[in-house]
Amino acid sequence: MSTVMQEMHTDIGLVNTIVARSSLSFINGEKGILEYVGYGIDDLARQSTFEETTYLLWNRRLPSRVELAEFNTLIRSNYDLSETLWDMIVSLPRDASPMHALRTLTSALALEDPAADDPSIEANTRKSIVMLAKMPALIAGFDRHRKGLDLIRPNVEATIAENFLYMLTGKKPTERMSRAMDICLILHADHGFNASTFASLVTISTLSDIYSAVTTAIGTLKGPLHGGANQGVMYMLQEIESIDAVEEYVLNKFANKERIMGFGHRVYKSNDPRATYLKTFAEGIAQDTGNIDLFNKSQRIEEVMDREVGSKGIYPNVDFYSATTYFSLGIDLDLFTPLFAMSRVSGWTAHCMEYLAENRLIRPRCDYVGPHEQEYVSISQR
Ligand code: ACO
Repeated sequence: MSTVMQEMHTDIGLVNTIVARSSLSFINGEKGILEYVGYGIDDLARQSTFEETTYLLWNRRLPSRVELAEFNTLIRSNYDLSETLWDMIVSLPRDASPMHALRTLTSALALEDPAADDPSIEANTRKSIVMLAKMPALIAGFDRHRKGLDLIRPNVEATIAENFLYMLTGKKPTERMSRAMDICLILHADHGFNASTFASLVTISTLSDIYSAVTTAIGTLKGPLHGGANQGVMYMLQEIESIDAVEEYVLNKFANKERIMGFGHRVYKSNDPRATYLKTFAEGIAQDTGNIDLFNKSQRIEEVMDREVGSKGIYPNVDFYSATTYFSLGIDLDLFTPLFAMSRVSGWTAHCMEYLAENRLIRPRCDYVGPHEQEYVSISQR
């Protein structure tokens, strides 16, 4: 073995490896702290908006009133899609999964951008605005197409959260619904080097373009161990017949060595602060919309999980209560993960732009454990 290889260590799953520096989000997994650029997630969820949070992540400071107004105008002027893209949405198979549709349509945004490969910070900021602003139309448009409904053009007077709900349902959402949506977007906007963000960095570090990086990230987010878990939570809640059936359901899962979706986290070994915040919110919105049974079932799962595996540091993660919140908002289960992407695009692009400023190709090694010096036998003799 070479000296270089001897100095290396194997770290399956990169559990103990710090890959790069970042000044975007800080996570303390033991104490359950999450900050974006030093601002506590609770303060942001209570007082900020998704647009302002995105400005914070991209500029690493909060905007002035004028800057925020200009930023909002810029985003809204990018809400609408080209005719080609609207046509592309209605050409997709109706039974396709929304995450596959979103990945394909996000990738297609690059086709109409003559500067798709321009790596400058100005071009990447503009492209990030394009993706942030248009994702609601891509998701809502595909959902209406698959249901055989007319597609709805965006409302440029509305925030990203309001505009999404409007394009999805054709109705102006109530203030409480828009606020719930906005809070979910803030809470999901960034989270260190999670799997999808890391995947986007691998792509951007090759000096590929930011559309490709976000497309990579969407494909990574969709897995059930990552963003796909919120959908899994809802399937589980629907599968459990009543609050009395919770305990048996959870214990059966353990007996079959299956995981409970929406629990556990690579970094948090105490409460995920996003879940703590969402829990209160989910309860209110479930109460308002006649879904309190769902919330009560969730709370019972949490109690059983705490008793069974709390000592191992397995607590509810952000996906657990976002599922009840989205369901109470009347959103289809398989749109939960696309909604996660609609928010996380702000973090993905922020990290890509930050990483590019001091880019180094991400190229780890593998620990080869296969055979050596095998004798090649010609195919006629095998
Ligand atoms: N249900 C039951 N047991 C669990 C769960 C769970 N949800 N999560 C972890 N464990 C157990 C494992 O079985 C393992 O037990 P063991 O040591 O006895 O074998 C132990 O906890 C450690 O689990 P790992 O998989 O090694 O932990 P890791 O850090 O790799 O995994 C992960 C983190 C993937 C999130 C895991 O907790 C999980 O699968 N959770 C369910 C899916 C989920 O909710 N994902 C969303 C994460 S948040 C997000 O992406 C936004």
